[in-house]
Amino acid sequence: MGRSKNTHGGAGGPVSGGEALQAGQVRALEAALGRVTGARLRPGRRARLVAEVEAWLADGGVAFEELLARVERGGPEQDWLVGLATVHRTEFFREPEALVRVRDELLEQLAAAGARSVRLWSAGCASGEEAYSLALACAEKAGKLGLELEVLGTDIDVGSLERARLGIYAEEALRKVAPELAERWFVRGRGRSDGLVRVREELRRRVRFERLNLIGPAWVVPGPFDAIFCRNVAIYFAAATGAQVLERLHGELAPHGWLALGSAESARALPRHFEELGESVWRRAEPAALRKSA
Ligand SMILES: C[S@@+](CC[C@H](N)C(=O)[O-])C[C@H]1O[C@@H](n2cnc3c(N)ncnc32)[C@H](O)[C@@H]1O
Repeated sequence: MGRSKNTHGGAGGPVSGGEALQAGQVRALEAALGRVTGARLRPGRRARLVAEVEAWLADGGVAFEELLARVERGGPEQDWLVGLATVHRTEFFREPEALVRVRDELLEQLAAAGARSVRLWSAGCASGEEAYSLALACAEKAGKLGLELEVLGTDIDVGSLERARLGIYAEEALRKVAPELAERWFVRGRGRSDGLVRVREELRRRVRFERLNLIGPAWVVPGPFDAIFCRNVAIYFAAATGAQVLERLHGELAPHGWLALGSAESARALPRHFEELGESVWRRAEPAALRKSA
């Protein structure tokens, strides 16, 4: 979508016809997107969003009100604008402490308890680096411990998910990946793909990507999860929305499952649901503990 020709036709003539959006229209658009994503628009994103919308309206013959309705309803216009409104910054082995702890502590605990599989979820995975980092960090150890590894990556942004499923990245994206892991799990591009790397099929098989809106009405996820990474996502939500999401994530965790948040985030708002393990890792509090202090 973006600046491509608007071929949707639609109700009424081009209301904005190349004109600038009015302040009230910008506010209405931001509010509509906020209702979809749960996040407030970052001031740095507003100018680009407005410019793209103005160009699109001028190009296509759809009234602003119709665009607004389409954003609320869902479909390609919503996908496009959600992609522009959300922040997708991520990297392989970002804030690696929690990944290392999952590999060194959680997998050992699961194996000692007789588990046969480990199920991990990167909720708000952007272009997939976090989900693949979980797989990269854990694949070998899980194999040694006889645990089958499954990783789920979800995001609201369809463009990010497409990139995640492809699993193709610039070589520089691997700067924090240990050389032996990069060698083992990535294929280097040649010729026209020089400078690119692709996650090997053997690892991609263990990582599945699905669209999921964390503030959407129903989550269909193959839980319960042994660990959920929801990092640098709720930070964009209002406090009450963030707390609701954490409560729902609690419900998707296995008993004693782990929740990893970003270093600037916390689950302290839900002391009956999570106990702090340190390094932005929290453990699911069990129903008995919840009842006791209820
Ligand atoms: C800054 S990235 C974080 C990526 C990764 N978790 C990390 O820490 O590197 C935030 C991601 O959250 C996604 N996101 C924002 N609102 C969301 C929502 N309501 N439901 C699901 N994902 C959402 C964005 O599309 C974006 O890809």
